[in-house]
This record gives sequence, C-alpha cells and structure tokens, in this order.
Amino acid sequence: MKLLVIGSGGREHALAWRLLQSKRVEHVYVAPGNGGTALMKGASNVALSDPQALADFVRAQDIALTVVGPEAPLAQGVVDTFRAQGLKIFGPTRAAAQLESSKDFAKAFMVRHRIPTAIYQTFTDPVAAHSYINARGAPIVIKADGLAAGKGVVVATTLDEAHAAVDAMLGDGSLGAAGARVVIEECLLGEEASFIVLCDGKNIFPLATSQDHKRLNDADQGPNTGGMGAYSPAPVVTPVIFDRVMKEVIHPTIAGMAADGIPFTGFLYAGLMIGEGHEASCPIKVLEFNCRMGDPETQPIMMRIRSDLVSVFEHGVNGTLDQATIDWDPRTALGVVMASHNYPGVPRLGDPITGIPAEKSDCVVFHAGTVLDDSTLKTSGGRVLCVTALDDTVRATQKMAYDVVNQIQFNGAQYRTDIGWRALES
Ligand code: AMP
Ligand code: GLY
Repeated sequence: MKLLVIGSGGREHALAWRLLQSKRVEHVYVAPGNGGTALMKGASNVALSDPQALADFVRAQDIALTVVGPEAPLAQGVVDTFRAQGLKIFGPTRAAAQLESSKDFAKAFMVRHRIPTAIYQTFTDPVAAHSYINARGAPIVIKADGLAAGKGVVVATTLDEAHAAVDAMLGDGSLGAAGARVVIEECLLGEEASFIVLCDGKNIFPLATSQDHKRLNDADQGPNTGGMGAYSPAPVVTPVIFDRVMKEVIHPTIAGMAADGIPFTGFLYAGLMIGEGHEASCPIKVLEFNCRMGDPETQPIMMRIRSDLVSVFEHGVNGTLDQATIDWDPRTALGVVMASHNYPGVPRLGDPITGIPAEKSDCVVFHAGTVLDDSTLKTSGGRVLCVTALDDTVRATQKMAYDVVNQIQFNGAQYRTDIGWRALES
C-alpha cells in the first residue's frame, strides 16, 4: 500500500521512517517533506499543501491512508476535506482541532467538563487584561488564543513582563489575529510531561510516555522553543500517575468532546504539569492540548515501536482502536535536537551540513529543517536535526546520541548538552 504523511518536520520524518518498516507499505509520500525524507529509500516528497490538491493527489496515486503531522493543516480543515470525499485520513476535524487552535475554546471546554487546569480569564480589551494582571500578581502566564507556532506563550516572572506581553499581543498586534484575544492564567509549578493518545472518536489508545525540553539552553534556561530534545519513557509518569491522567484528563476529554457533538479523532496530546506531592494526590493539570503528536517527542517514541504501525492507524480510521496493539521496546529512546544559528529567533538558513552517519538500528538522525540543494544537504529551518538513540539506560542512550551529535557539523549549530537530565536523576 501507499501512504501519505502531511508535514515537513522531524516528527514527519520519524513517522514516515517507522511506517516504511511495515512489509505492507510500498511507498510513503511526504508533503512537503524535508531533506531527510527526500533521501529516504521508499519515500518521496510532494510539493503540495492545499487540502483539495492533496486529496486529488491521494486519489490519483491510490493512496490508502493519510496521517497528518502538524496542527496548521488540521485547523485548515484537511480532515474535513478528505472525509467529505471518502478518503481515509487520521486526524481531528477542524472543529475538534479547536482544542489546540483556540486556547479559549480549550479552557472553556476544560472548565465545562471539570478537567483540571490553571485558573484563567480571557481578554480582548487591554485595559481589562492589565487590571486582571495587577489583581493576580506575578508570576503569571499570558497566552495568545490562536496558533502562534510556539511563540504564543509568555511565562512572566514580573508584572512588567506580563504587561509588556499584553501590550505586544493586544496593543501592537505582534502575533496578528492569533494574539487578538489572550488567555491569562495562573502560573503552575512542577514537572511537565507529554501524554499522547490516539482516539477514534470513542476508543483510546495511549502511546508510550515522553517528556521534552522546551528551553533553548542547558539546565532549562533561556527562551522557550518548539523543543530541544525529548525522551521516552518519562519516569515522572509512574503507573499511578498514568492511571490518574487517563481517568482525570483523557477519558473526560474524549467523553466531553463526544457529548459536545464534536467527537475527537486523531492524536490527542495533553501537555501536563505534575505538581509536588505524593503520586496518589499531587496536582495534575493540563497546560495545553495539542491535536497532533509532539515534535520532538515523536522521534524517540517511533524508535521504541517494534511492531507494525500501519495497522494502528487503520484501527484509528476504522473506529476499532480497542483492537490496536503496539509492542514497545522497553529501552530508553532519547533525541537531541540540533538547531540553526539564531533559533528560536529568525534562523539563518543555507548552511551546509556534513558528518551525518549512516542509520543504525539503535541510532537514527531524523531531519527537520533540512533541504537537498542539488546534492548538498543544507539547513532550511530553525530545528535542523534530531539525533535519536536507543539503549538500556538513560546514560548510555545519552552518550550514544551525543557521540553522533559531535560528528555532525554545520555553522552556528546549537544544541543542549543535558537532554534527559531529569530521567538521569530519577
Ligand atoms: P503551552 O503552549 O500552553 O504548552 O505553553 C508552552 C510552555 O509554557 C509550556 O510547555 C510550559 O513550559 C509553559 N507554560 C504554559 N502554561 C503554563 C502555566 N500555566 N504555568 C507554568 N508554565 C506554563
Ligand atoms: N514538543 C512540544 C510540541 O510538540 O508541542
């Protein structure tokens, strides 16, 4: 069978790579893909993004199933377009994707269905927003309502920072329409975890646990990024925490969406803050919902799958996820992101990349912001590569990943040297 993966990041390279290992898969198209998917045997890139153009391509190529990586095509309604034409696609409808595309929608939904989350209010009027900030004090978190490619959240430690964030979003329109409405919420403390499940509208299939590193620099310092590295499993999600998240967050979310008449299909990613205290009673609150897999969490998660992934997506589109299974490698997978000069600001592009070693069964370099220019591989985005390794212990996995990171070169490369530090301590 032929498959289509929509997107161009490391997440999509990892999904395509794992799908291609199925004996049933003859070819994976990636739209638009990257330098890594261009080089991958059995895959090819397709320069399309318009939902109808993608649907036409799928019909022309007789593609059996499409999987959507990023949020933008979901918010554009690619799933609605495909389904209206009887094409199989795994992802949420545009209405269901509001869990990610509107923070205000997600917060109101969580309050309505008693899903634990930070106290908040939503504002369009800057005067009201400023006075709420003064009343609540710092630290406080300001979030653009709409999709802002990872730039919409300001965790303000001072009142000045909080007021400046409101002025930028509501006053100066720094994020355009995405920031014309803001959610202002309580600042939560604790340890973050990424909890990702697949849903078919009613059945829920959880993936292995994972954790990413959002800050640019070592020791979780510096600006927020899309994610500088990730690993799976996440020791913070103990079996007790896992069961609590399913009961307190995931089941009420899927039931709530169904009750609201917008059944959720696709990946549901709950970004969680797990507070201090005993695992049976510590606070577990939702920071955000995403309607897709995480990037870079997907890269280590894909490394740990030992069974056929295509059948899982087939169960996802056919409403039979209760029959899905995945054989997980018990070892730790860990991915280190290499980013370009000036990321997360406007990245410098076009730097030649050298030294990427051949793939091994326990170490794969997934591409994100790369492009093949003639036969030279060059940087083409903020996050460039994710070096992902698999080994028995967190320390051994870390070492294997960093040994490869140290062989790879491009001007201005930035990466953290401590990916996995929390897992090492636990
Ligand atoms: P979000 O896109 O909502 O996940 O926010 C991006 C990042 O900002 C999260 O991964 C957290 O590190 C941080 N963050 C978001 N909301 C809060 C909050 N209420 N309290 C503390 N940190 C937060
Ligand atoms: N790594 C965070 C995200 O994908 O949203």
